[in-house]
Amino acid sequence: MSSIESLKVSLGKRSYSIHLGHHWLADGGRHVGRATTSRRFFLLSVAKVHALYGRRIEKALRGLGQVSTYLMPDGERAKNERTLLAILRAMASHGLQRDACLVTLGGGVVGDMGGLASALYMRGIDVVHCPTTLLAQVDASVGGKTAIDFEGVKNLVGAFHQPKAVLLDTALLDSLTERQYRSGLAEVVKYGVIRDADFFAWLEDNVDAILRRDPAIVARMVRRSCEIKAEVVSADELELGARAHLNFGHTLGHALESAYDDWGLQHGEAVAYGMWAAGLLSWRLRWCRSEVPERIELLLRRLGLLRPLPPLSESRILRSLLLDKKAKGGEAQFVLTRKMGIVSIRSSVQKSLLGWVLRRLRHPKIDVSDLS
Ligand SMILES: NC(=O)c1ccc[n+]([C@@H]2O[C@H](COP(=O)([O-])OP(=O)(O)OC[C@H]3O[C@@H](n4cnc5c(N)ncnc54)[C@H](O)[C@@H]3O)[C@@H](O)[C@H]2O)c1
Ligand SMILES: [Zn+2]
Repeated sequence: MSSIESLKVSLGKRSYSIHLGHHWLADGGRHVGRATTSRRFFLLSVAKVHALYGRRIEKALRGLGQVSTYLMPDGERAKNERTLLAILRAMASHGLQRDACLVTLGGGVVGDMGGLASALYMRGIDVVHCPTTLLAQVDASVGGKTAIDFEGVKNLVGAFHQPKAVLLDTALLDSLTERQYRSGLAEVVKYGVIRDADFFAWLEDNVDAILRRDPAIVARMVRRSCEIKAEVVSADELELGARAHLNFGHTLGHALESAYDDWGLQHGEAVAYGMWAAGLLSWRLRWCRSEVPERIELLLRRLGLLRPLPPLSESRILRSLLLDKKAKGGEAQFVLTRKMGIVSIRSSVQKSLLGWVLRRLRHPKIDVSDLS
C-alpha cells in the first residue's frame, strides 16, 4: 500500500476529504469509518467494474458493518429515471434506514446515479464515492453534482448532494481502455487552462509519462486536478459564479456530444474539441493571443485527442447547442480564455463566428478570411 494523501473540500458543515493513493482501496475502511457514522452500506456498481474491484471495497466495508451490493446497467444510456427508480426500489427492499450509507464504485455514470439516489432516499442519506475512471476521479466525484438525463437532455434532473468522502485509488485506472483514459485527460487539460498555467506547462512536459500511465506522474496529475476542482467548488458550491468556469469547452462540447451521438463520441473527446473551439473563439474575439489555442490544440493532439470528425452539418450542431440550453432555460454561455490559466464568461457569440470555428475544427487550414 502506498501512502495516502488527503485533500479537503471546504464547505462548512458539508466539508469532506478526498483520499488519494495507489493500490489502497482494500484498506479504505478506516477513512470511510471516520467520514460516516453509518454501519450499513449499500454498494452501487456495474458488473464490469464490480468484477474487477468489488471484492476490495466490499472487504473494506465489511470491516465496518453490513454490506449489500446492487449492480446497475452500464453506460450513459442507463443514466435515466428507470435505473434511478430501480436503485431506490432495491434500497427500500433491503430495508435501508436513514442511517445507511450508499457507496458508489464506478465511473461518472454510477457516481451521478448513486449521488442522486442518496440525495432522494429518505430525503438524503450519506454517500461515499470510489471513482474508477479518470474522468470520475478528476471531475465527477468531487463537487456534489448529481443528475440523470431526462427527455433527451443530459443532466436535466438532479440535485446537489455532497459526499462524506471520496476514496481515490489511481491503480484502478490501469484497466481503463486507451480511449477511456485519453477521454479523461481532456478534463485534466481543462484545469490547466482555467486555473493554472504552470500545470498546463507541466502536462506539456510530461505527455509520454502520462500516456504510459506512470504511477507517480498519474498521482501528481490527478492530485493537482482534484485540488483545482476542490478550490473552485469550495468557493462556489451552487454554481452562482466561478464554478461555471469548469464548463470551459463544454458549451460546444455538449452540442458535439449529442450531434455525434450515433458515432459514439465520448464526453472527453467532445470536450477536447470544445476547448480548442473556445480557444479559437477567444483569439478571434481578441481576448487572447493565437498562442493559447495553438498550445491547447497541440497538447490535445499529443494526448491522442482531436481525432478527425466525420462530416456533419453546421446547422445541426448549432441546433443542438441551442436546444440543450433552451431545455435548461438559459442562453448558450461560453467560457473563454484571457491567457493560459485565466478565463471569463461571455454570454453570446455571433452565429457566423461559431460557424467559422466549427469549419476550422474539421479543416484546421481554414484561415480568418473564411469568416462569412
Ligand atoms: N457530477 C459531475 O460533476 C460530473 C462531472 C463530469 C461528468 N459527469 C458525468 O459522468 C459521466 C461520464 O463518466 P465516465 O466517463 O466515467 O463514464 P462511465 O461511468 O460510463 O464509464 C465509462 C466506462 O468505463 C467502464 N469502467 C469504469 N471504470 C473502469 C475501470 N477502472 N476499468 C475498466 N473499465 C471501467 C464503465 O463500466 C463504463 O463502461 C457522464 O454521465 C457525465 O455527465 C458528472
Ligand atoms: Zn466534463
